Amino acid sequence: MGIVTILGQALWFILPALAPSSGAVLTGGGTPIDFGKVAKDGRPILGPGKTWRGLIGGTLTGMALGAIFNFLALNVLDKPEWSFGEWGDAIPLLFFLAFGSMIGDLLGSFLKRRLGKEKGSKFPIMDQYDLLIGSLIFILIFEFSWFESQYLAGDHIFGLIFIIVLIPILHRLTNIIGYKMGKKEVPW
Ligand code: CTP
Ligand code: MG
Repeated sequence: MGIVTILGQALWFILPALAPSSGAVLTGGGTPIDFGKVAKDGRPILGPGKTWRGLIGGTLTGMALGAIFNFLALNVLDKPEWSFGEWGDAIPLLFFLAFGSMIGDLLGSFLKRRLGKEKGSKFPIMDQYDLLIGSLIFILIFEFSWFESQYLAGDHIFGLIFIIVLIPILHRLTNIIGYKMGKKEVPW
């Protein structure tokens, strides 16, 4: 497999883990996940920016994007190597990618609150990598063989390095778009 294909697949397979935060911005609102409760330190557990609707909407956004990719790979392009597998394998894999990403986002906010950072404040590294970290935790536990073959084996490791470099750039771009759309209060 050529290096361009490896890098292309690395990005393609991670997009269902990156899309959920945009999905959460678009679908979020309503009851906060922490129900407005504060932790022992007197600060919100997660804060008002983390809602049930965002959690569910974000997870479904990532899964829907992955399902479109899977349909394209299996049924339109007839390129199974670009698929997440047969549907019975693909659906749980997409769930772990997307839901894990949203859990990473919650973990990021939880840590921000513990550090006394307000909703929307900057938290370098975690702001950019919380989604990937959350997804990786779930994927390493539940989908290790998939992860190994797509991101570790042989030259696939260059795909993993590529997405680690690309994520801060994509993160910045999508947040600027969200800000311009009036969906995000801050462009980061
Ligand atoms: N959002 C949501 N539910 C989630 C995640 C996000 O409703 N589980 C929505 C909220 O409207 C939130 C917006 O998406 O304000 C942007 O998400 P994010 O940047 O992750 O949150 P912040 O507002 O920056 O809050 P935090 O400081 O906790 O990251
Ligand atoms: Mg944020």
